[in-house]
Amino acid sequence: MTKDRRNRAWYGKLDKDGFIHRSWMKNQGFPDHAFDGRPIIGICNTWSELTPCNSGLRDLAEGVKRGVWEAGGFPVEFPVMSLGETQMKPTAMLFRNLLAMDVEESIRAYGIDGVVLLGGCDKTTPGQLMGAASVDLPAIVVSSGPMLNGKWQGKDIGSGTDVWKFSEAVRAGEMTLQDFMAAESGMSRSKGVCMTMGTASTMASLVEAMGMSLPTNAALPAVDARRMALAHLTGKRIVEMVEEDIKPSDVLTRDAFINAIMANAAVGGSTNAVVHLLALAGRVGVELSLDDFGLGSDIPLLVNCMPSGKYLMEDFCYAGGIPVVLKQLADNGHLRSNITVLGADIMAYAEGAECFNEDVIKSFDNPVKPAAGLRVLRGNLAPNGAIVKPSAATDHLLEHEGIAHVFETIEDMKANIDRDDLPVTKDSILVLKGVGPKGYPGMPEVGNMPIPRKLVREGVRDMIRISDGRMSGTAFGTVILHVSPESQAGGPLGLVQTGDRIRVSAQNGTLDLLVSAEELTARREAWQPDPPHYTRGYAKLYVDSVLQAEKGADLDFLVGKDTRPVTRESH
Ligand code: FES
Ligand code: MG
Repeated sequence: MTKDRRNRAWYGKLDKDGFIHRSWMKNQGFPDHAFDGRPIIGICNTWSELTPCNSGLRDLAEGVKRGVWEAGGFPVEFPVMSLGETQMKPTAMLFRNLLAMDVEESIRAYGIDGVVLLGGCDKTTPGQLMGAASVDLPAIVVSSGPMLNGKWQGKDIGSGTDVWKFSEAVRAGEMTLQDFMAAESGMSRSKGVCMTMGTASTMASLVEAMGMSLPTNAALPAVDARRMALAHLTGKRIVEMVEEDIKPSDVLTRDAFINAIMANAAVGGSTNAVVHLLALAGRVGVELSLDDFGLGSDIPLLVNCMPSGKYLMEDFCYAGGIPVVLKQLADNGHLRSNITVLGADIMAYAEGAECFNEDVIKSFDNPVKPAAGLRVLRGNLAPNGAIVKPSAATDHLLEHEGIAHVFETIEDMKANIDRDDLPVTKDSILVLKGVGPKGYPGMPEVGNMPIPRKLVREGVRDMIRISDGRMSGTAFGTVILHVSPESQAGGPLGLVQTGDRIRVSAQNGTLDLLVSAEELTARREAWQPDPPHYTRGYAKLYVDSVLQAEKGADLDFLVGKDTRPVTRESH
C-alpha cells in the first residue's frame, strides 16, 4: 500500500500516537487490516431529522460504505452541521458558511484520504463543497435526491411553488383554509429534497454539470433504488479517485463554472446558484464574476419544471435528467471540455443520452422559453449588481418604470402589506430594505414579497419587487434580488423613498433610481444603519465578516484554501 498516503500520518505510526489513533478506532470493531494503508474515506453526512430533505442520507451512507469496502477502502462516516432550509430561523443561509467551516476543519483534522459529501437541502450542498474545496482532498457528491411528485386532489403539486400559489389563493378568497392545510400532507410524501427545480435540485444539477458527482445524481428520486446503487458506485469511485489523486481543484475549473452557468439557464435553475457558485469559485481560486452569469442569458429554457414550467423532478428523471441537458448543450456548442470525478471529460456524461419525454426536456429548436438565463442588472440603485430570473418573471414587467412603495424592514412589510388603504397599484414597485447579508442577517428568501391583498383580490399575481435579499428557488415572479451593496452596508437601496420612480430594463441590464444626485447626497447624510440584531457568537462574526452578494456572501477570511498538512499531534 502507498506509503505517502495522508492517513499514514495518523494510522501508519508505530509509536504512542499511532497506538492512540488506531486503538480508539478499534473500539468500533474494525480489524487490523483497516489500518494497513488502504484509502480511508470520510463520509461527510448532513443527515438530520431537522433537515427533512436530508433524512434519507443515513441509508445512502450505507450504500457508499458497501462501495468503499468493495474497492478496498475503509469508510468512516462523520456528522457535520445540518441546515434545514424550512426549519431554521432567521434563515439557513446565515449558517451556510458555518457548515463550510465545520466541513473544512473536520476533513483537515481527521486522517482521511478522500471524502464523499452527502447533502441535499439547499445550503448543505454549497456549504459542503465550499468546505471541501478549501482543503482540496479528493471529493465527490451524493445528493439526497428529490421527493416523489407531490399529489393532491388528483393533481401534481410542487414543493414551494404551490405553497406560494395556494397562499395567494387563500388571501384572494379562492381557496379554503381547510383545503390549504390538507395540501400539506400531499405535497411532501416521501423522503428527499423539494421536487421542483428549487435550489436543492438546481445545485444537484449544477454539481452534475460540473462533474462533481456521478451522472444521473441530480434527478433520481430519493427513494428510487437506483439512488442507493449510485451511492454504492460513488463509494467505489472515491477509492479510485484517491489513487488517481483527482481533487476538487482539478474538476472545479473556470470551464466547469461556465458549464454550470449554462446548465442553470437550461434547467431554469435557482437564483441562489449565483451566490453559491461565486462563493465556491472564491474557495478554489477561480476568477468568476457576477457578469459571467450573463454568458447564460441567451440559453433557452429546456427543462419544463416548476417554478419556470409545469413538471416536477420525478418527470425530469424519467425523461432522462441532466445527461440529456448536457447533450443538448454539447450539441449546440455550449458545453466546455472539462475533467470530472470520473477522470474523463464531461462530454462522456452526455454521450448516448436519450430524451424520453420531449415535453419535459425540450430542445434548442423548441424550448419552453428562448433566452431564459439570469440577467444581471446594474445602475445607480445597484452599483455592484442585482439579478432577475426572466424564466420565472412576467415578460412585460421586465421593461418597466413605476413608483416605489418602500418597506423599511421585514416587520414593516408584514404589518402593512395587506392594508386595504396601501397606496399601490399593479404598476407600483415594491421595495424591501434590510434583508441583505448583514441586514437581516443572512440574506433570507423573502425577496418574493406577497402581492398586496387588495391587488390579489383584483387578480394581480405579479409585480416588480426589489430587495437586497434572495428568494426561494421554488419561487417565481418579476423579483429583483441580491441588490448590492445592500442597504445595511450603506447601499443606495437604503435611500429609496416611497414615491420615487424606478426604471427596470432586463434587456439593457439596468436598474435605475430616477432621483437626482444632489437629492441622494442629502438623503445619504441623514441615513443611519439599523442597530445590529446579533451582538455575540457566530452571528456577530458573520455580520462583521460577510462579503456582499456579488462575492458570494462568504466570510472574508474563508476565501481561498489551505492545503498544508497538519503536523502537530494531539498528545
Ligand atoms: Fe430542503 Fe427544499 S427545503 S430542499
Ligand atoms: Mg430555499
